[in-house]
Amino acid sequence: MNNLISSVKSTFINTFKTEPLLIFSPGRINIIGEHTDYNDGFVFPAAVNKGIVAAFQKSDSGISTAYALDMDSSIEFSLEHLKPSKQGNWENYVFGVIAELQNRSHKIGNFNVVFKGDIPAGSGMSSSAALENSIVYGLNELFSLGLSKHDMIHISQKAEHNYVGVNCGIMDQYASMFGIENNALLLDCRTVASKPYEIDFKDHQLILINTNVKHSLSDSAYNDRRSVCEHISGLLGIKALRDATEADLEKIKNQVTPENYQKALFVIQENDRAIKASKAIEKGDLVTLGNLIYGSHNGLQHQYKVSCEELDFLVEQAKLNKDVLGARMMGGGFGGCTINLVAKNTIEDFAKSTSKAYKERFNKACSVYFVELSNGTHIIK
Ligand code: GLA
Repeated sequence: MNNLISSVKSTFINTFKTEPLLIFSPGRINIIGEHTDYNDGFVFPAAVNKGIVAAFQKSDSGISTAYALDMDSSIEFSLEHLKPSKQGNWENYVFGVIAELQNRSHKIGNFNVVFKGDIPAGSGMSSSAALENSIVYGLNELFSLGLSKHDMIHISQKAEHNYVGVNCGIMDQYASMFGIENNALLLDCRTVASKPYEIDFKDHQLILINTNVKHSLSDSAYNDRRSVCEHISGLLGIKALRDATEADLEKIKNQVTPENYQKALFVIQENDRAIKASKAIEKGDLVTLGNLIYGSHNGLQHQYKVSCEELDFLVEQAKLNKDVLGARMMGGGFGGCTINLVAKNTIEDFAKSTSKAYKERFNKACSVYFVELSNGTHIIK
């Protein structure tokens, strides 16, 4: 982290000859509650000690500059007439936030930003939300916009919808902005309010294993899933699937395809699992928590169909090991990480044997991450 800060800071000073304002914005994990956020349901994320460091200062040169240090890519732009760049370009995260501020009539002037992160891209740990939040947080400070954290996460989310083209829920931006050290947040995505849970699994620990793949079409598949959920809530005459029970869904079974029925059923069940998981954590019942996590993967794989071969393989490996209480894919899906609840004393062995098996099966490496639960977006003093 200190390396990250010093490299961003020194690049900024060398390039723009002035001291910057420095922001850290974290990525997130999610214990359970996947694809429930845009159904107004419950999720259970936590901010982590990996994220984005961004350096900002006002510019009086009549133009703004954004510099993505990781990619050694920089772009100059004017604040007027912003429009999305080609799909997939990193600057859409920056432009999207500016455009959303402008849509809300917030006045900002020209500025320069340099940023760099240590969240592996495509890992399902929300590097996008971390970047959006760092930009909105930095601009809020720089131009004294008076935005609340809630205002900021909604701006970040809309940037993703309108400039990046992913109709995401609010989980990632919320977790990144509101994270609390050593805590996970049980977030009600309807009220956008959360309850913190201190996470100390005693002789067990969470670890992430990255498949190091991100399958194409994941964005369109994501938007498709969301449309299916909205269509079915429409049929049910409710605001979101959060309001449905399995019995309600049964009543309209003949009006939907079997595939879409399973998707809606998954959401209802996953929402229920998130709530049950919070109760299991309260009781310190890790076996139940682990089973809920395995159940979540099973649903994501077979009902919601957002997993992939590499993720399923990692979860199968976990199931073979009695020291792993639960494992599942994490985030939107189609690649990225699994999250695993593992006995501390065997964690190294588990990581080693899984990495070996993965290499043998796919002829490429997976990566193992140990993360700490950390505070949300903040100024680096
Ligand atoms: C992505 C989205 C989130 C959420 C998850 C799935 O990370 O950005 O809003 O929907 O997928 O739970």
